[in-house]
Amino acid sequence: GRRRKRPIRVYMDGCFDMMHYGHCNALRQARALGDELVVGVVSDEEITENKGPPVTPINERLIMVGAIKWVDEVIPDAPYAINEEFMYKLFNEYNIDYIIHGDDPCLLPDGTDAYALAKKAGRYKQIKRTEGVSSTDIVGRMLLCVRERSSGDHHAHSSLQRQFSHGHTPRFDDGRPPHGGTRVSHFLPTSRRIVQFSNGKGPGPDARIIYIDGAFDLFHAGHVEVCSTRGAHRPIMNLHERSLSVLACEKSNPYAVPLSMGILQTIKSPLDITTSTIIKRIVANHEAY
Ligand code: CTP
Repeated sequence: GRRRKRPIRVYMDGCFDMMHYGHCNALRQARALGDELVVGVVSDEEITENKGPPVTPINERLIMVGAIKWVDEVIPDAPYAINEEFMYKLFNEYNIDYIIHGDDPCLLPDGTDAYALAKKAGRYKQIKRTEGVSSTDIVGRMLLCVRERSSGDHHAHSSLQRQFSHGHTPRFDDGRPPHGGTRVSHFLPTSRRIVQFSNGKGPGPDARIIYIDGAFDLFHAGHVEVCSTRGAHRPIMNLHERSLSVLACEKSNPYAVPLSMGILQTIKSPLDITTSTIIKRIVANHEAY
């Protein structure tokens, strides 16, 4: 047959709000359907119109999506529904061969399919949605901790749950919907999934290996920025000086060992977001409803 010179370019769009491994797995599967993956990140305005305000604003969502290794290009402020004009642009300006989405129904507020045009054009492909994780479920888990700590505002909980349940019933990995509200996910990453996510290559012989630890609970743009920070500063105090400080400390420092070995470096956080920032946004948001 005829040899194809041009790479196959695939397009996936989405909100990617509070990015989780379900989104990453969708991007991984989409990339596998072609040679180059272009991702459209839906604008804050379009998300607000179609499913309520996002927790993470566009600048953070762009950082998250852009950091994913299967993503080759990002289109910021993509429309929520692929209309005729945008589809034409995808085919003719971005040279897109296929438009990809998860196998969950994606309906517009008027009940029509957001991918109807792409399907009609015969340029639509599907990937398998990852069960056991969704933004709705993450919000539920957060509200559950907030509720456990405070007196418990059931009304706020249910209005936020509604706001974030964009037609998906949160389910556990075995497909069973949770009863009696959100619970901690029973999902355990299989070794197969871990192999799928890792690139399978070890570090090169001259690689400088940096170890960074953390809970990485609710992986957010602050994590992406800190992990991509290079050229951290050399320590100011030498090993012995630093060891003395550690030894003089009464409180045990979780980094005492690397500190005394002289291999601990502290870098300034490049982006001022923490998990509590995100939880605060959600709690602040519930007061608006
Ligand atoms: N997706 C997936 N598995 C999930 C969640 C999302 O495969 N658990 C896919 C969707 O099918 C879509 C892409 O990721 O192709 C982007 O999804 P997005 O627009 O961010 O929203 P939702 O499908 O609403 O995901 P969530 O409820 O987690 O926000």
